[in-house]
Amino acid sequence: MAKLILVANWKNSPASLPEAKDLLKGLSKNKLLYKKLRLFLAPPHTYFESVSKSIVGYGELASQSFFPEEKGKYTGYITPEILKSFGVKLVILGHSERRALGETSYEIAHQAKMALKNGLTPLICIGESKRDVEGEYLNLLREELKASLSELSKNDIKKIMLAYEPVWAIGSKSLGAIDPLELSETVLFIRKVLSDLYGRNLAEETPILYGGSVDSVSAGILVRNTGIKGFLVGRASLNAKSFKEVAESLI
Ligand code: PGA
Repeated sequence: MAKLILVANWKNSPASLPEAKDLLKGLSKNKLLYKKLRLFLAPPHTYFESVSKSIVGYGELASQSFFPEEKGKYTGYITPEILKSFGVKLVILGHSERRALGETSYEIAHQAKMALKNGLTPLICIGESKRDVEGEYLNLLREELKASLSELSKNDIKKIMLAYEPVWAIGSKSLGAIDPLELSETVLFIRKVLSDLYGRNLAEETPILYGGSVDSVSAGILVRNTGIKGFLVGRASLNAKSFKEVAESLI
């Protein structure tokens, strides 16, 4: 069986390089544990050098954003070439915090296409901001997914990962992690949309991660019988002990 995937989204933390180094030191004490999973760390770009050196042998580097142009001059942007020079393997695309700042699903589809062109795996995030009893949120989710994949061919779909992150479950002010039954229903729904678009086999093979208030308790419950292949973790990834506990709950 393929290893479960664990992606740490550090967002704009820790606040300084010495703190980031402390966190890395803590993580590296559990190398053997992390080797049992497929671990990706997505730190702020300014910590790339330290992270890429520290995770050799137990983790891979990921980027929290992707600038979809290769050639030209772009003040303030990090091009795919620079990401690759640090050994980045995965790019998080369409995180709800970036969508909230105006990134559209069509831009995300373009970023995904360009990431693949540059040999990087896109981890495309989708998720509704709220649920309603009529199920309108499922229509929104379907449209968001379709638009976020709109530039990708069948062949491209084989190389992507999805993260289902309901916005209402993300962050300290959220309602907390999703219930396992709701998660399995939503994963089935996402697979149905994929199947309608790309056929059943590809729909079954596309790894779907879950994100939103993941900690050791929710991870241990949600990893079983929900159809997900791993987690995208925010807050719990910023503390070596709580992240270790999340990893342990998956083994
Ligand atoms: P959280 O964040 O784990 O802190 O809820 C998840 C995310 O934003 O990816």
